[in-house]
Amino acid sequence: MPEGEGIKLEQGAEPVALFNADGEFYAIGDTCTHGDWSLSEGYMEDCEVECTLHMAKFCIKTGRVTAPPATAPVKSYPVKVEGDDIWVDFDAGTLPDGR
Ligand code: FES
Repeated sequence: MPEGEGIKLEQGAEPVALFNADGEFYAIGDTCTHGDWSLSEGYMEDCEVECTLHMAKFCIKTGRVTAPPATAPVKSYPVKVEGDDIWVDFDAGTLPDGR
C-alpha cells in the first residue's frame, strides 16, 4: 500500500478507508458525512484527507472534521500492523466523542 494513499475496505458493516501516512496506518469511515462520497479516493496530506466532491477535510487519526462543508465526524477504527499484515478492527469504530 503506497504512502500517501488510501484504500476502501468493505469487510465490515460500513465501508472503511485505510490510509498510509508515512508508514503509519489509520482507518476511518469511508463515507463522507456531507454526501455519499468515498474518502479513500480523497487527497491525503499530513494527517488529513480532503473529500474530492466538495473539499471537506477529515483527520485520518480521529475522524474529526477539519474543514467544511461537512460538519459531522466519521468513525475511526483501531489498526494493528504485524509484519506485512495490517489488521483493522471493523467492530470497534468510535466517533471522536467516544460513541
Ligand atoms: S460529499 Fe464530501 S464534501 Fe461533499
